[in-house]
Amino acid sequence: MATAAITPADCRCEDRVDPLGIDAREPRLSWECAGSGRDLRQRAYHIQVAADAAFATPLWDSGRVESRASAHIRYAGAALASHQRAYWRVRLWDQDDRVSAWGATATFAIGVLDQAEWTAQWAGLTSGFQCSMAPRFRRRFRTAAAPVDARLYATARGTFTAMINGALVSDEQLAPGWTDYAQRLYYRCYDVTRLVTGGDNVLGATVSGGWYNGAIGWTGVNRHYGDRQQLLMMLRLEYADGRVETVATDDQWKLAHGPVQQTSLLYGEHYDATVDDPAWCTPRGTEVGWSPVQVQPLAAKPLLQAHPSEPIRRTQEVAPIAITARRPGVWLVDFGQNLAGRVRLTMRVPAGQVVRLRHAEILDPQGDVYVDNLRTAVSVDVYVAKGGGETFEPEFTFHGFRYAEVSGLPTAPAVADVRAIVLGSDTRRVGEVTTSDELVNQIYANTLWTQRANFIEIPTDCPQRDERMGWTGDAQAFIRTATCSMDVAAFFRKWLIDLADTQGADGAVANVAPQVEKVMGGTGAKGDAAWGDAATICPWTCWQVYGDRDVLERSYPMMRRWAEYLHTESRHHLRRADDRRYCCFGDWLSVDAYTSRDIIMSAFYAHSTLLVAKAAEVLGHADDQRRMRERHARIVAAFRRAFIRADGAVLADDQEEVSQTAQILALHFDLVDEGQRAAVFAKLVADIDRRGGKLSTGFVGLPYLLPVLSRHGRGDLCVRLLKNEEYPGWGYSIRNGATTVWERWNGWTKENGPGDPGMNSYSHYAYGACCEWLFTDLAGIDLIEPGFAVARVRPRVGLGLDRAAASYRSVRGLIRSAWSTKDGQVDLAVTIPPNVDAEIWVPCRDPASLREGGAAVPKAEMVDGWAKVRVGSGDYRFTAAFEAKRAVAG
Ligand code: BGC
Repeated sequence: MATAAITPADCRCEDRVDPLGIDAREPRLSWECAGSGRDLRQRAYHIQVAADAAFATPLWDSGRVESRASAHIRYAGAALASHQRAYWRVRLWDQDDRVSAWGATATFAIGVLDQAEWTAQWAGLTSGFQCSMAPRFRRRFRTAAAPVDARLYATARGTFTAMINGALVSDEQLAPGWTDYAQRLYYRCYDVTRLVTGGDNVLGATVSGGWYNGAIGWTGVNRHYGDRQQLLMMLRLEYADGRVETVATDDQWKLAHGPVQQTSLLYGEHYDATVDDPAWCTPRGTEVGWSPVQVQPLAAKPLLQAHPSEPIRRTQEVAPIAITARRPGVWLVDFGQNLAGRVRLTMRVPAGQVVRLRHAEILDPQGDVYVDNLRTAVSVDVYVAKGGGETFEPEFTFHGFRYAEVSGLPTAPAVADVRAIVLGSDTRRVGEVTTSDELVNQIYANTLWTQRANFIEIPTDCPQRDERMGWTGDAQAFIRTATCSMDVAAFFRKWLIDLADTQGADGAVANVAPQVEKVMGGTGAKGDAAWGDAATICPWTCWQVYGDRDVLERSYPMMRRWAEYLHTESRHHLRRADDRRYCCFGDWLSVDAYTSRDIIMSAFYAHSTLLVAKAAEVLGHADDQRRMRERHARIVAAFRRAFIRADGAVLADDQEEVSQTAQILALHFDLVDEGQRAAVFAKLVADIDRRGGKLSTGFVGLPYLLPVLSRHGRGDLCVRLLKNEEYPGWGYSIRNGATTVWERWNGWTKENGPGDPGMNSYSHYAYGACCEWLFTDLAGIDLIEPGFAVARVRPRVGLGLDRAAASYRSVRGLIRSAWSTKDGQVDLAVTIPPNVDAEIWVPCRDPASLREGGAAVPKAEMVDGWAKVRVGSGDYRFTAAFEAKRAVAG
């Protein structure tokens, strides 16, 4: 029998490749259908999961399952025990019922399912140890033979790096990351089989305060979650004869100061290599001068769970583009790119030499590092050399910077000796977009760099100043854009747990997640409009983009309780700012425009209520669905009565003039009566025109600005706004040297230099939310059904750009759209992966001109200046005559 036209590829478990130490009892399996050809579909699948790579010990055999589903298939085999290693593979039947070979074997390993299985105790600092240092913990142990399987489960109250016999157990950074440590702590699992030997071994870790007890936020408050660092490790050794031993943190562990004299995520690190003992974590290392740890038994709280997302890693090295002498002994290194991470410096200096690194995003007018906008986050790393040639890279801190000032070297550092090390949650790249316009391309590049600089364990506002918190408003504004470039499924699943952990008894989520009330001083506990609405917008976006029903199901209680909270805070179906018992950011950082808080609060009240209704529908909660729908209808009616004037202006009593954001929210959230839509939209366009083609939107309105313009036929205005090089606009920052997205449109100007240092980040992704439009509208790749089961490619052409191309690797495979125009002809190339159905919309003036691969397209349906074609998988090449004006209106 002929083999199938599709084969399984890119197998993932819980949205990750071969994850180790997961705690899902029924892990969800996903794959892509690979194959090239038209109309390829998966008709059925067959999954096998076994305890061995030869599949001799089956755990689950799904048998043939008639289904097109290829993502998030729940394991339904024998109960999985802790530590179980599993091997899995899948084969597929195609549309013609031909079966593929088995796909490549993928794996997962279960972690510690039951908290009671932790045989470890917390090993902590005793009172003689400074929390701001990063002390070392170690334990010597002996094995009779080398194990056949060794796995280390580790977490800390603090951040740690673990070693066995002098070798790092992994390349992860700042483990175990940031959660509300009072509620839950994530452990990581490492396969250390190759590191443990028969005979003497040493297991050790260095533990800094990190988010746990180091400074976070702007108040310098430390010890937010607790006092002294603690380490929890359990090394599970399995031998050839089946015997299992564990080495766990307990009172046998020893503690000593190491070379890290001072470290802080925000401020920097001071490392004294002269006091380092490189053998400290080997059997050769002495325990003279080491003291006993303080032990504490494990309690039921916090929960100990497997980390659900990608770890932080070094994701790139960036070489300097220039190194210049500033003063005798002081050099300025320019990496050419603003980023988050740290500097790695190789040097040859005498023992005891102090080398200092200062970091900055921009330079001051004299050409030196400008650090005022870092506020208290001084971002200085200090290294005391041991002599003889060495390399320094701090371990427990990171900075947001483009420039580093180096001092303490006898001669200028060579380019080969300095690197910027980019840090970030290691989410994989899934999308890119390019256009014929360099400025638009730079906006995208800046946005992607800003995403990478801020997706460090949680979505943060900024990576450089003393803030770096999980601001909910920024995250909800940017989430859809984030999904276009990186696979953030697991990343957001994790952060949505952080967000749910902030939810109070009244249903309010906080303005930042994880919650840091001591920093927020009582102002952050209750989420503001558009900030707290991350509780509904983010889970809904994950469901849409990834088709992940589980994330919706888990988030549903949070979504519903948030909507109920808004309801209890409402009056006559609207929310009013004067009722507020919490802070209200309004359209944060908007430009010369005021949008009534009543309008923002009520619009998001409507939107969140609608999203809960939709989620209830997906999940089958019929009562909730009905109740939320009815409530939504009442809110919309009240909104229209209260805020939408006969002439289309969306105004409240405290708002005298039309604002772009008010018009946009009313349109984007469908709060406008169909008959009034054109009038409301006209007011938006009039305001943009009045400002000479400029925007005025802040964080709240900006994400929807381009989609609203485009979907009402004014894609030309989107391109005009993107290409605008004057204040306020993206082009203005780029003309002024931006390589990341700025927090403020006027963060730096030729006339005045840096803006208000009190709040002026050069790496803030909220305004990068425009990039969603480049994918979904300009290149036109969007979803119709969740998880791109049904996709749409509907590019906007003829808007003043000659071409655009995007590729996006959805959970079901790679989708491409590339168009160019010439002499009134559009040329559109589209790739649809197997097992995906799609609508392709070709801008087309004259149906007779439409060709695909040179042939007529009889099945095309003409809709309002587009030729709409339904297709299955394949590579398509359309050409058509289009009318620029017509396409503008499309
Ligand atoms: C942050 C923002 C955040 C805002 C709340 C700022 O300090 O940097 O991005 O959303 O506060 O208004």
